[in-house]
Amino acid sequence: MYEQHFGFREKPFSMTPDPALLFLGSKHATGLNMLRYGLMNRAGITVLTGDIGAGKTTLLRQLLNETESDVVVGLISNTHESFGNLMQWVSVAFGLPVTSDSKAILYEQFSQFLIAQYAHGKRTVLIVDEAQNLEKHALEELRLLTNINADKDQLLQLVLAGQPDLRERLQLPGLMQFVQRIAVDYHLSPLNPEETERYINHRLVAVGGTAGLFDPAACRFIHYQSHGVPRIINSICDTALVYGYASGETQISVHLVFDMVIERVSAGLFGAGVLDFEELGAGDPNQLRKRALDRARLRAASNLRRATSETVIT
Ligand SMILES: Nc1ncnc2c1ncn2[C@@H]1O[C@H](COP(=O)(O)OP(=O)(O)O)[C@@H](O)[C@H]1O
Ligand SMILES: [Mg+2]
Repeated sequence: MYEQHFGFREKPFSMTPDPALLFLGSKHATGLNMLRYGLMNRAGITVLTGDIGAGKTTLLRQLLNETESDVVVGLISNTHESFGNLMQWVSVAFGLPVTSDSKAILYEQFSQFLIAQYAHGKRTVLIVDEAQNLEKHALEELRLLTNINADKDQLLQLVLAGQPDLRERLQLPGLMQFVQRIAVDYHLSPLNPEETERYINHRLVAVGGTAGLFDPAACRFIHYQSHGVPRIINSICDTALVYGYASGETQISVHLVFDMVIERVSAGLFGAGVLDFEELGAGDPNQLRKRALDRARLRAASNLRRATSETVIT
């Protein structure tokens, strides 16, 4: 609704993955290069970790877009707790029929598939997103798949992406052999203040808007509120644009963003990054809510002071 007002071709901060909106600051660029390197150098296992919303899936999608026709990719993107028979998921990921419940039969079918790809000069890569949900036995089964080989060539490469828990999970006793196979490993950390500002401007310009629409203090404030996590930056920026449009602004100032955050917090509408009920522990829900709101307001006020003091002296 605000697109026209700000001269955008489309929404700059939508969550849908769009290669045109891809921002390759140093962290995402390095992450992507690590993924490419792993793929090209036939790394047995590549691991990418990062917090929720850091950009892992975005990088995987970019990698998928770039893969050449000699690479066959299977993607498992939904690994919830009830993740059952791994071989069934692997089969589905490569479009193989799931004709049996038997792990052995599916394993055999998959081995034949890998050998056939190899014979056609193709490499096979299995990407598992949200891999922090994988149980130890599933990780072990995945490793066994990377053992399948022909003429000493390993036939399957694995790329795992997941939240930081994945790293802890891999340190469980018994996963030593898995860890030894990890050739490439990268942790995607949040954006720093400068990168946050460049990220915001990049997305604005990519949709036909102007860099600087969010003034520097606003960018700084958004950085502190979001801890530099792209998904939260998007959510704050998108809402700020709605507010800016509603009040007829042509510039998004730090005060506009601050007022918006306070209003949303008071309405209980801002989740991640603004309200953190969990860290308050147990107790009467109403009291907890009130304390969470107070904290969130205090935090926003302190971020406002920090953002304005840091951007005045430039
Ligand atoms: N490098 C990036 N360039 C552009 N947008 C990004 C980037 N990283 C993350 N985003 C945005 O943040 C949102 C969350 O990223 P996502 O890849 O889903 O995170 P994760 O998989 O780590 O939870 C995406 O919808 C995308 O809009
Ligand atoms: Mg993801």
